[in-house]
Amino acid sequence: MSDAAVLLVHADSDREYLRAPGEELQTDLGVLTVPEAPRPGETIETHLGETFAVRRLRGPDLFNHFERTGAPMMPRDIGLVIGHTGAQSGDRVLDAGTGTGVLSGYLGRLGAEVTTYERDAEFAEVARGNMALAGVADRVDVRTGDVLEDLEDLAGGEFDLLTLDTADAAAVVERAPDLLTNGGYCAVYAPFVEDARRAEEAARGAGLLGVETLETIQRELHVDDRGTRPSTAGVGHTGYLTFGRRG
Ligand SMILES: C[S@@+](CC[C@H](N)C(=O)[O-])C[C@H]1O[C@@H](n2cnc3c(N)ncnc32)[C@H](O)[C@@H]1O
Repeated sequence: MSDAAVLLVHADSDREYLRAPGEELQTDLGVLTVPEAPRPGETIETHLGETFAVRRLRGPDLFNHFERTGAPMMPRDIGLVIGHTGAQSGDRVLDAGTGTGVLSGYLGRLGAEVTTYERDAEFAEVARGNMALAGVADRVDVRTGDVLEDLEDLAGGEFDLLTLDTADAAAVVERAPDLLTNGGYCAVYAPFVEDARRAEEAARGAGLLGVETLETIQRELHVDDRGTRPSTAGVGHTGYLTFGRRG
């Protein structure tokens, strides 16, 4: 993994910023330059005397601080993808669409080699910058283009994992047997149940094993002096995840 960005955490507020080594931070709290080799735990002062602590980057910071384009996958859904597919270091992953690149960044930081497609050229450029911040530009190949147009060339690529987060994911799932290695997994994230159904039908049609679709719901517990109960604010539902495996 190449040099990742670091978090700069303001000492007197909850403000934090993601910046690469050598980069400048300019805010109303003043200007500072991140050292070329920032040490986690060290403090840096702006020219106005405001103090920031350097904190080492980890996965959730990608979700919180990457420049956003396509709606990023939430850490809880990424956790389910990793848990249900066993994504691991050394895996070859085909991902689409890249969007912000949060899922690709997480998988790269796990040690996977990721080929990810983004059909919007500007989004792809932002994602390349995000991969550099995450320190995984050498492991995550962001390709500009429509993944559907490259399926012929990608077939036989022996991917361990397909991660799909596009409305047309079912068309890739149909080709999963040609793309996946023996025992490899396909995971589709869909915000709408109609897309999840299409993905599940495509997975069954392709003969994948153990096909299942899960709704992802998470409730935050609200803890205060009166007691503890699920938060009454916010939406617990994020989407649907469909999994299947090549035999
Ligand atoms: C919801 S975002 C993906 C977010 C991503 N999983 C993340 O964690 O940041 C979906 C992206 O897929 C791209 N896209 C949709 N269909 C595509 C296709 N067939 N090939 C490549 N990219 C596609 C869109 O432009 C969009 O940026």
